[in-house]
Amino acid sequence: MAKRGISILKGIEAQTVTTLLNKAYADEWLAYYQYFIESKVVKGIMKDAAITELTQHAADELRHATLISGRIIQLGGTPLLSPKDWFTHTNCGYEAPEDADVLSILKQSIKGEQCAISIYNGILDITREKDVITYDMVSTILADEVEHEEDLQALYDDIHEFIAEIKKNIQ
Ligand SMILES: [Fe+2]
Ligand SMILES: [Fe+2]
Repeated sequence: MAKRGISILKGIEAQTVTTLLNKAYADEWLAYYQYFIESKVVKGIMKDAAITELTQHAADELRHATLISGRIIQLGGTPLLSPKDWFTHTNCGYEAPEDADVLSILKQSIKGEQCAISIYNGILDITREKDVITYDMVSTILADEVEHEEDLQALYDDIHEFIAEIKKNIQ
């Protein structure tokens, strides 16, 4: 445990931060797997564009899990050791892509990103001026989640519009 590194926290316990980070860590792994499996099972119109996006997001969520685990260790904590713990610690849960239709999958993923944005925004409020390292890391992650939501929404809107266009032309 890095004592001096921990001593720069101001008015917040390291354990409070690691508890929050472990919950986010669980979310990231579940988000990683959700994107991973969605990219494998997705079906329907413009699915190639969706696969590219989902695969990129999976890589980003895994990178977030890596960042968060590093910070938990710096703070003297232990990242969740078992996948079973992901389900007991998650904030945003896990939604299996039972409906593989591209629009359903995108909708489900947008909901997940919106949850992640709220959670990280909350961690920023708690760590602001108290734990600058966690604050900076979470700001970077939050920027990715905001971009994820935007990318998915833009793709959802494109596909939706394309379908409407086709329907109009065959009437
Ligand atoms: Fe993430
Ligand atoms: Fe994300």
